[in-house]
Amino acid sequence: MKNDLFSHKADSYDKNEKRVENVDNIARAIADTVSLNKGMEILDFGSGTGLLLQRIAPHVKKITAVDVSPSMNDQLLAKAAHIECELETVQMDLTTDALDRKFDGIISSMTMHHIKDIPGILQRFRLLLRPGAFLALADLEPEDGSFHDEDTGIFHLGFNPEEFAALVRNAGFQDVRWNRVSVVQKPQGEYPVFLITAFTGAD
Ligand SMILES: C[S@@+](CC[C@H](N)C(=O)[O-])C[C@H]1O[C@@H](n2cnc3c(N)ncnc32)[C@H](O)[C@@H]1O
Repeated sequence: MKNDLFSHKADSYDKNEKRVENVDNIARAIADTVSLNKGMEILDFGSGTGLLLQRIAPHVKKITAVDVSPSMNDQLLAKAAHIECELETVQMDLTTDALDRKFDGIISSMTMHHIKDIPGILQRFRLLLRPGAFLALADLEPEDGSFHDEDTGIFHLGFNPEEFAALVRNAGFQDVRWNRVSVVQKPQGEYPVFLITAFTGAD
């Protein structure tokens, strides 16, 4: 499939210890920053094999896993029985396809650099969220292009967190904050990762 840029790495994706450690750090930071509860319905954007959502699952009611890659979705479905909340998987490109639903929060890890139009996807996120809902997005700080050793559809060499925070504010979110929550160690360098959190207003 044309869109399945992860097909060759999906089955070994969770075996990379540094990747798992990074998602551990991100999930812990989300749980520490946002008040999760067992009534919440959450969307995980670019859910991949489910590394992030399986860590958030014990804290929420339901997670809708959205990913364009069938092979990554297959890996997630293979461990669905071990996910500690209700799980729905949706194979779609959220930059172009419509999802007519509302959520209490959106989480995402290491996916935003795969999205060309950041203001566009932030507008879509805003429309998918209920009043008082949260946004929690983690991705790379600016890097020199050495983070990826292959092209899996990369549009940004990381992001300046302050500039990203401004885009989140421009999309209508409030209480926008960011923190460095992880550093991915690779033989060729160290790659800091930030988490941005924000909220929709009361109405
Ligand atoms: C680097 S992986 C991250 C997976 C997971 N969030 C994690 O941290 O392990 C990025 C994922 O985003 C998905 N993705 C990229 N663009 C997408 C889009 N437009 N709509 C939905 N999923 C997308 C890819 O298929 C891939 O599974």
